[in-house]
Amino acid sequence: MNLLRFDSEESWIAKVVSLWRDRLRTTPDLTMCLPTGTTPLRVYAEMARSVGVGLVSFARARVFVLDEFGGLAADDPGRTRNTLRHQLIDAIDLPPPAFHFLDPDIPDVTRHCKAYDAAIGDGFDLVLLGIGLNGHLGMNEPGSPSDSTTRRVDLHTTTIESSARYFSHHNLPQWGITVGLKTILGSKEVWVLANGASKREIVRRMIADEISPSNPASLLRRHPNCSLFVDAEAGGSLIAE
Ligand code: PGA
Repeated sequence: MNLLRFDSEESWIAKVVSLWRDRLRTTPDLTMCLPTGTTPLRVYAEMARSVGVGLVSFARARVFVLDEFGGLAADDPGRTRNTLRHQLIDAIDLPPPAFHFLDPDIPDVTRHCKAYDAAIGDGFDLVLLGIGLNGHLGMNEPGSPSDSTTRRVDLHTTTIESSARYFSHHNLPQWGITVGLKTILGSKEVWVLANGASKREIVRRMIADEISPSNPASLLRRHPNCSLFVDAEAGGSLIAE
């Protein structure tokens, strides 16, 4: 795993955005899997700005959301589809049919998940990930099988509690649908983004823990092309070593 450590959040954002623009220029039909959450917010804003000034284009790319919360109204701003649209998709030139998202309200979720995996096809060229405080990737909580595909999952208590910051109400989602670890681990390139002091301990554990599904993030150490981007705060424990 490549470890990329930056002195400031600004330099962390600039590097991710510059590499992302580079990937899109080299491979305009890039197939990507993108997360929501607080981590990528400023990266998305900067990518949207890059598209706006003509530095890069998503016109031939495909974007799949990493996961989706269940049990919420379709127009809840905290739903992944709505958040990603708001943070990135509506501000870039991605053609609407190239934005793929998960629908937790569909009656046959299993069939929907199979269709999602079929649409992903040969796998992702690039997966961007945040990291959960318990090491989850997307909604692949500790204990998720490493050969899992897109499926309905129950959220862990810590994930439910920490999701409160995404919602302006108290009806916190208890379950969701997530792209599986098999698909994430089988993608060509993975970037894990971690910033801020709250991620310091899980970043340390991602590197130091035994490679095991009990810490899904640790499984990425076996990926042939995974990069971990940390700012000074998230990478603090690594600097001290
Ligand atoms: P965050 O979430 O970016 O909001 O910290 C990351 C995650 O839980 O995967």
